[in-house]
Amino acid sequence: MKSMKLYDRVHRIHNELAARGIKPDAPLTVAQLTPFDQYNYFGPAAVDEAIEVLDIKPGMRVLDIGSGIGGPARYIAEKTGAHVTALELQSDLSELAGDLTRRCGLSHLVEHRTGNVLDGIDGEYDAVLSMLCFLHIPDRSRLFEICRNAMTPGAVLYIEDYGRHREATAEEAMALAAKVQCPFVPSIDEYRHHLADAGFGHVELDDVTQQWTAFTATRLAAYRDNRGRNIAVHGVDVVNGLDDFYATVEGLFSGGLIAGLRITAS
Ligand SMILES: C[S@@+](CC[C@H](N)C(=O)[O-])C[C@H]1O[C@@H](n2cnc3c(N)ncnc32)[C@H](O)[C@@H]1O
Repeated sequence: MKSMKLYDRVHRIHNELAARGIKPDAPLTVAQLTPFDQYNYFGPAAVDEAIEVLDIKPGMRVLDIGSGIGGPARYIAEKTGAHVTALELQSDLSELAGDLTRRCGLSHLVEHRTGNVLDGIDGEYDAVLSMLCFLHIPDRSRLFEICRNAMTPGAVLYIEDYGRHREATAEEAMALAAKVQCPFVPSIDEYRHHLADAGFGHVELDDVTQQWTAFTATRLAAYRDNRGRNIAVHGVDVVNGLDDFYATVEGLFSGGLIAGLRITAS
């Protein structure tokens, strides 16, 4: 996973907080963190969309699969008062997430668990979301079966994920596998079939490729415009790694390979 530079040296968020004069272990607010703790494309705006679609209310039990350093989970908990279980594969991300949640005073609403979703999920949830995680998991039949079994009757699954518009070239397939940890990308039709096979009878699939293509281009340009500042804050190794990652993802979208998908399944 660490060959994907987004997931390497995740404690770099502390450099951003220090650059704003926030002392180590000082209390934090969710608003202070959202510019840095979201590993999806539109941060709070994307999570707001999930909250609305899933109709998340105070007291609901929500599962976030592939929760990263906890940005979406904290945002949902603070905004809605729901209880969020944040499941994350990588222990360094999960432990950092737990620490940031504690500093935000949200540990009573957000439970961070370290684990692989493919090992199964304890408990049942009123809403399940997963933002840009399933692209790392080729075994869709097991994944969607586990998701379905974790949902109460009537619960909705909300997914942000990659699909593909065409076959990848050998070079694109290599970049996807090595730099984005994405060994399998289904076509949009395949995606529908995988969900239907797992028993999801109602599936809505929005193609948001245009927005995500624009986002990934803007992200790369902004990162390059601020290269000097970013090196001063993080050091050249972190900046070169993220620059390469952002450029790889931008190329996969602008080359017309990747489809951005927002999916609701019940
Ligand atoms: C692009 S990040 C998105 C994180 C978070 N959803 C967000 O929007 O900020 C995807 C996350 O999924 C996690 N992940 C990948 N495979 C997983 C698995 N099998 N089980 C649990 N988490 C997984 C990765 O470790 C990574 O932190």
